[in-house]
Amino acid sequence: MENFVMYNPVKLHFGDGVTDKIGKITQGYGTRVLLITGKGSARASGAYDQVTSRLRNAGLEIFEYSGIKSNPIIEDVDKAAALGKEKQADVIVALGGGSVIDSAKIIALAMKYEGPAWDFMEEKHKPTDATPLIAVLTLAATGTEMNPYAVVQNNCQQKKIGYGHKLCYPQHSFLDPSFTLSVPRNYTAYGIVDLIAHSLEAWFGEGEASLSDRFTSGIIREAMKYGPQLLDDLENYDLRARIMYAATCALNGMTSYGRKSADWGVHAIGHCLSVVYDVPHGASLSIAYPAWLKLQKDRIPKRIQELGSALFEISTPDDIIHKMEYLFKGLGSPVSLHEVGIDVSNAEVREKLLSVMRKNKVSGIAHKLSEEDHEKLLKLMA
Ligand code: NZQ
Ligand code: ZN
Repeated sequence: MENFVMYNPVKLHFGDGVTDKIGKITQGYGTRVLLITGKGSARASGAYDQVTSRLRNAGLEIFEYSGIKSNPIIEDVDKAAALGKEKQADVIVALGGGSVIDSAKIIALAMKYEGPAWDFMEEKHKPTDATPLIAVLTLAATGTEMNPYAVVQNNCQQKKIGYGHKLCYPQHSFLDPSFTLSVPRNYTAYGIVDLIAHSLEAWFGEGEASLSDRFTSGIIREAMKYGPQLLDDLENYDLRARIMYAATCALNGMTSYGRKSADWGVHAIGHCLSVVYDVPHGASLSIAYPAWLKLQKDRIPKRIQELGSALFEISTPDDIIHKMEYLFKGLGSPVSLHEVGIDVSNAEVREKLLSVMRKNKVSGIAHKLSEEDHEKLLKLMA
């Protein structure tokens, strides 16, 4: 086992009606709120009215930046930070899924900086201060509610980058599973894939940590059991709650303590599909994971066998990979590029993807990927 520091300052409020307290808690950070929202789902579901009325009832003034897109872009981060500065906001409330909360994390840094927000993503500027951030999650998937990471795209540069800094932890995160009842079937499935993928990235990380392995396989088993049930019963609060908690645990640190690192190679592949073709994050992972496992099957057979034993009580790598593929398919998430309309038999498409993979330096931390591997992966994902 490796040495580690366990640190997570997020105060997480979980359960039905938890946003009752959001007004009083936000008051603790000032009176002027920069509210960040997505394209409209929060207004449609009623979450927006609930949250804004509680903020207003607490005497808070709200300035809103709406329209953050799924697979968020840096232009929105810069514009929202400019609004936050202009209105002298004391605190940010992010109401939405991972894209909204990730954007808000970088907005929080950019409000204390005169340069472009992309400087943080490329680590050209080290943050020293951030506007306090309160997250209200409406989609179970990324774990951003309880971690210091943000993933943002720069379409001009064709890059999608993950960034982490301790100043990016939300001060408070509100997780009311009833806010996720309106998530449509496809994004519910992508969220389940994402939490499984985060667990797998930890599983295939560097270093041996048996208790973290048990947490990790336990989270995947939870998703395997309750994910399909939820997809058949989207308005079931209890199933929404189980999946929401599993998604938080899949990327709040607990699957990685005692390991040197997780791997993140599959996420790096998925980000390229998102930056070029705007593939939803979870869908990109259900396409990339089976291909990555096929590529790695003769390189790390023992680790794949251990996964098979922990999840399916089988130990033949081919059967295990088949099971994983079947699991993603059963959730209704795509497992090939073809299913999302990407034809890599077309040379132009193939070259485009390969060049973006090179530009984004697609590789894993534990399991490096060469340019030759990129080509193999495209064939395996076809
Ligand atoms: O934009 P709106 O109208 O809000 O609609 C969203 C969007 O269309 C909709 N949605 C959200 N909550 C809803 C809802 N629809 C109905 N009812 C609700 N309650 O769902 C769509 C997807 O939203 P998005 O926020 O993009 O999804 P997700 O939470 O999966 O976030 C994906 C982003 O997070 C990044 C991904 O790369 C991607 O950019 N990730 C962030 C991580 C982190 N910070 O730790 C780790 C992850 O691996 C991931 O990379
Ligand atoms: Zn992810």
